[in-house]
Amino acid sequence: MKPLHVLTVAVVAAVAALAWVGVPSLGSQARAQSSDATPLYPQAGFGTANGEVVYHAICQGCHMPEGQGAKGAGEYPQLAGNPKLAAATYVAMMVLDGHGGMPGFGKMLNDKQVAEVVQYVRTHNGNNYSDALTPEDVHSLRH
Ligand code: HEC
Repeated sequence: MKPLHVLTVAVVAAVAALAWVGVPSLGSQARAQSSDATPLYPQAGFGTANGEVVYHAICQGCHMPEGQGAKGAGEYPQLAGNPKLAAATYVAMMVLDGHGGMPGFGKMLNDKQVAEVVQYVRTHNGNNYSDALTPEDVHSLRH
């Protein structure tokens, strides 16, 4: 085999290897960074996910894993140490209905999950509000 052919074979093998290994991982990255959370649904068993799992599945995509928020193509407010989180009903209404650049998740999450994810953000990353909403409270905020 001439050197050129050896090179061609190596390149073809490398491309094939990339296609094999690279495409699935690129695919999951693209999903994780999507600003539209709907492709995450429906996932088997998601109806039983607790507030922490819901945060990491939905909210962190925009508000970041530690609630630090982000600025870039859009502006995603920081939830860590955010005094507005003192009002549990405000947070619950954001999650249910959305506002501005934030979509609502009222149709995707049940009352218990909304109550839990609200309480998760209100008790993590420098927030320490113990007055949790009940699922019944959340239910009464739905339209
Ligand atoms: C697609 C991106 C996105 C996702 C996902 C998202 N948010 Fe938001 N969120 C935003 C944006 C953008 C705003 C600012 C909205 C505005 O301008 O009124 C916001 C605002 C908020 C606020 C109000 C903050 C303030 O200072 O007034 C809270 C609380 C909040 N989000 C909680 C959550 C929770 C909890 C989740 C998960 C259930 C979540 N968000 C998911 C984008 C997102």
